[in-house]
Amino acid sequence: MAKLKLLGICTSARGRDSNTYYLMKKAFDALIDPDVEREIIVASELKLRPCDHHYSVDSKMCVHPCLITQIDKEDEMSKIYDGIISADIVIFSTPIYWGNHSQLMQLIIERLNSLENANSVHGTVVVKNKIGGLMILGHEDGYQHVAGGLMNFLSAMGVIFPPQAYAAWVGESDEDTRADKGRIEGDVAISDAFADLVGNAVGFARAILTCPDCGHKLNYEHRSKKKNYIDISKKT
Ligand SMILES: Cc1cc2nc3c(=O)[nH]c(=O)nc-3n(C[C@H](O)[C@H](O)[C@H](O)COP(=O)(O)O)c2cc1C
Repeated sequence: MAKLKLLGICTSARGRDSNTYYLMKKAFDALIDPDVEREIIVASELKLRPCDHHYSVDSKMCVHPCLITQIDKEDEMSKIYDGIISADIVIFSTPIYWGNHSQLMQLIIERLNSLENANSVHGTVVVKNKIGGLMILGHEDGYQHVAGGLMNFLSAMGVIFPPQAYAAWVGESDEDTRADKGRIEGDVAISDAFADLVGNAVGFARAILTCPDCGHKLNYEHRSKKKNYIDISKKT
């Protein structure tokens, strides 16, 4: 069976101590599939410079590799760029902060603008044949809004989402984040929902990225702002 690479990017500010990381790690560990190589990047452990917003000066200045990556040797965003480019399945995880994704997630999105811009402005498809997934965690509300915003950007970047592409959990509005940890650890249904997300994303990747019989891998390039579909009405 063709090997697949599953990448998780955890964007909680609390890194490996976070509930977000806990659920992602548990879901990755729960996947029983020797043909899936897996890695979790803990974004808070990387030195990530915020975007310089060259795009706003001139969209042509937003390139891949990003200008920051090219000049700042201490910046570690290349680990995320390379991780995404080499992965078949990319799952982002984020806590909810005031109804939105994390600050780290936003920093990464703005730096990933260069991958989206490679296609839409420079005509080079960098991100292709990637299945996406999301893990969203809060203790009150807001996960649908967070999912919508993230899917909007990641889809524009070239990620393909399966149906029901996110797992989320929010508790009651009691402001007790520490109690959340007990709930999350003690409730199998919560970890099952996150494990299912991983299993479904991998299953979807197998179904559309690789041919089980011949080992052929999908090689589809979605050109931004161009027609990518075959107009069957014009076929003879
Ligand atoms: C500044 C801040 C704002 C938050 N806003 C929300 C919110 O709008 N909705 C929600 O459900 N939880 C909210 N939370 C709770 C966190 O999402 C929750 O504690 C989360 O599980 C923490 O994840 P972590 O373990 O990765 O740090 C907020 C937490 C912080 C620190």
